Amino acid sequence: MKPYRMHLMLCTGTACVSNKAFRIREVLAKELEKHNLQDEIAIVCTGCNGFCAQGPVMVVQPDQIFYQMLTEKDIPHLVEEHFLKGRPVERLMFTPPGEKAPVPKMSDIDFFGKQRLIALRNRGMIDPERIDEYIAREGYAALTKALTRMTPEEIIAQVKQSGLRGRGGAGFPTGRKWELCRKAKGSSKHVVCNADEGDPGAFMDRSIIESDPHSVLEGMMIGARAIGASRGHVYIRDEYPLARQRLIKAINQAREYGLLGEDILGTGFDFDVSIHRGAGAFVCGEETSLISSLQGLPPEPKVRPPFPVESGVWGEPTNINNVETWANVPEIISRGAEWFAGIGTATSKGTKVFSLVGKVKNTGLVEVPMGITLREIVYDVGGGILDDRQFKAVQTGGPSGGCIPASLLDLPIDYEKLTEAGSMMGSGGLVVMDEDTCMVDVARYFLDFLKDESCGKCTACREGIEVMCRILTDICEGHGKEGDIDLLEELSHAVKDASLCALGGTAPNPVLSTIRFFREEYEAHIRDKSCPAAVCKALFQYRIDEEKCTACGLCKKNCPQDAIQGERKVVHRIIQEKCTRCGACFDACRVGAVMKVPNAKTEALAGV
Ligand SMILES: Cc1cc2nc3c(=O)[nH]c(=O)nc-3n(C[C@H](O)[C@H](O)[C@H](O)COP(=O)(O)O)c2cc1C
Ligand code: FES
Repeated sequence: MKPYRMHLMLCTGTACVSNKAFRIREVLAKELEKHNLQDEIAIVCTGCNGFCAQGPVMVVQPDQIFYQMLTEKDIPHLVEEHFLKGRPVERLMFTPPGEKAPVPKMSDIDFFGKQRLIALRNRGMIDPERIDEYIAREGYAALTKALTRMTPEEIIAQVKQSGLRGRGGAGFPTGRKWELCRKAKGSSKHVVCNADEGDPGAFMDRSIIESDPHSVLEGMMIGARAIGASRGHVYIRDEYPLARQRLIKAINQAREYGLLGEDILGTGFDFDVSIHRGAGAFVCGEETSLISSLQGLPPEPKVRPPFPVESGVWGEPTNINNVETWANVPEIISRGAEWFAGIGTATSKGTKVFSLVGKVKNTGLVEVPMGITLREIVYDVGGGILDDRQFKAVQTGGPSGGCIPASLLDLPIDYEKLTEAGSMMGSGGLVVMDEDTCMVDVARYFLDFLKDESCGKCTACREGIEVMCRILTDICEGHGKEGDIDLLEELSHAVKDASLCALGGTAPNPVLSTIRFFREEYEAHIRDKSCPAAVCKALFQYRIDEEKCTACGLCKKNCPQDAIQGERKVVHRIIQEKCTRCGACFDACRVGAVMKVPNAKTEALAGV
């Protein structure tokens, strides 16, 4: 390998690619050549760096200089200034919101500070399309150890002792599942990687595969050896073409290197992996539906038992784990169960990858130790609430998770604590909400999603979620009735108890948790016909603040309903009867004179 003096670790994860990272690579290569630097400076296309909101990002190694929001136009200047003359370009560095000075080094940026990388250990460090780079960072050392120095029972014992639990949602102990599958009767067994990732806004699994596909494959190989499986399947969401391409490349390379196929590493172990494209429904991620879909059948859940460990793919014992679960396995085998069990809380070991999104300053992919508090995630890693608004809630656990209020910000995150708080770990979506969020509308939004995604096989889920969604819509539209809250709670318990799979079993969580922590908002909607956050259109009004209005006429010009009265130099006024709450005036006003006023407060503003 050439001794390059610099490596430009350019992120080519999906978010950066959508912001032209591949084009930036081309321009970089051209500019390096122009200055005859191509033999001194290497461009490495990595997977997701994590700080997706700042993309396209690039880290210059070995100095760790972090460049962000790069455009093609920036590259000639960057190459000349930094790579030729040795003067890093401050303008392209990250400046935390509200601050003036940029933070040059990646390790000094708060977003990365409290993260601990296990599943994402190679993110931004390697080219995911080159197996040699994975191997150079001790990749496949754990497989070699497992195949040559450990019995299957010892592998299972290590995974059990590590305390690793499934990262796909339910948190089932991984080692125990493997043991059940190993003990299940059958000469042909399967391991499956669940990469369906149907939660809206979640991108943990996609990023792991895009940035380090071999870590997932190596985990599957070790699991297969422990269980006695010879067939592996990756069921991957069809909307993830880049992840799929990288996985296909990784599988082909592993075959070339004799790490997949027959008699792997001369140990007599046979194992190979095939890829299945997801059928495009949220319920496909549920393990029994996934198995049906993988076999070409409609993705409908089945009653368990029998569990997949006894009867899964083609009726044969099958162990299903999530992408992140698999990616943790090689590190546990390499570093030992004790090391892994030393991280986290009493019941939840290791780390968790979250997609941190919503009204937070730093959004992206984060991996943090179990036991970290929500406050640390939102304020230290996330940098606090966007525009310094008030924190209202954080939604964890995907569409069937719950909303956790400010009073629980110091909650240390683990499986049990989140469940006690009425939410769940889920697969790792973390949506931060500010004071402008209506919690009734949030519950309605998630129920609407789940209503559409219910496969319809069982009545409780199919009809129950639909009815709950209708009640929530009525409340948001100003037709809420006394007794609706009690009815929603009653229906929630019925749907939870009577649904066939966990889609229905967890669907009421957003409703129950918002009623539990934000009951007064439901009451304001139902009794006062008022939306305190001014989100539900029927329950607030736009008003113009006379003191602030400069009579510039922009609101009037932009109103499609002709609902604004006023002339130049005469304070403007909204005709409520004509207003459809489209928000065009609010968006157009440059002086913040257009206000959103909850119905309960409009009387106090009579005449405005
Ligand atoms: C409606 C529904 C959707 C699910 N979607 C996913 C998913 O996208 N990815 C995933 O790994 N697990 C998903 N699960 C959980 C799986 O059924 C299963 O528990 C998991 O893949 C097991 O792997 P683990 O033990 O490593 O978590 C879903 C469950 C339900 C009920
Ligand atoms: S995709 Fe580039 S930082 Fe996430």
